[in-house]
Amino acid sequence: MNKIIVANLKMYQLPDQLETYFEQLNDIKENNIIFCPTSILIPYYLEKGFKVGIQNIYHKETGPYTGEVSPVQAKQLGITYVILGHNERKLFGEKSHHIHQKLLASLKQNLNVILCIGETLKETENKKTVLKKQLISAFQNVPKEDFQKVLIAYEPIWAIGTGLIPDESELEETLQLIQYLVTEITGEHLKILYGGSVDETNISKLVPLNSLNGFLVGSASANPMKLKRIIEVTFKR
Ligand code: PGA
Repeated sequence: MNKIIVANLKMYQLPDQLETYFEQLNDIKENNIIFCPTSILIPYYLEKGFKVGIQNIYHKETGPYTGEVSPVQAKQLGITYVILGHNERKLFGEKSHHIHQKLLASLKQNLNVILCIGETLKETENKKTVLKKQLISAFQNVPKEDFQKVLIAYEPIWAIGTGLIPDESELEETLQLIQYLVTEITGEHLKILYGGSVDETNISKLVPLNSLNGFLVGSASANPMKLKRIIEVTFKR
């Protein structure tokens, strides 16, 4: 099955770094890479012909919402993906009901959603309950025909930005659990990505996992050489 790489560039890139970044990624042929830069840099990625995702969205279509971007605006610009529910959004007060509203609004505009779920270290014992709750809350009232527009990104919170990744067999087990829960809730089989400290040194351990459809790569994606290595290993170039 074709794997997918989502580059979550967070707030890492400066405008004056883009030229070099693009130059170094010039020879990438794969189509299954989605770049999610800081919003104001999105037009540069679109101009280069990359598939682009936005890192967050507001659920309203238009109106007096200073600082926000609507799904309609994203769609019209040519953005095709949106990352929702990322743990770092909690810093800005995002709760599960916000994620749900954003998911419905994004799907309404035909945007594909990368829905982040994950447990804290403390929640490891209750992983099944925690992940199930996140999935049920996000998927309420989602029209059946829209389920396939959602990719699940499993990101254990303790693995984000720490250099730590789960043990492979434990990860495979969790991915199977998530697929089981997703099927129970939606009646569909959805793609599942792994995110959290994926880099050029651990990618070859992760690629063989059976239940994995790709990766959500954070800080390593801002380094073109690291990203290229991740791409090479993932797509076995
Ligand atoms: P990281 O981030 O690769 O820097 O750990 C992943 C993510 O938060 O999406």
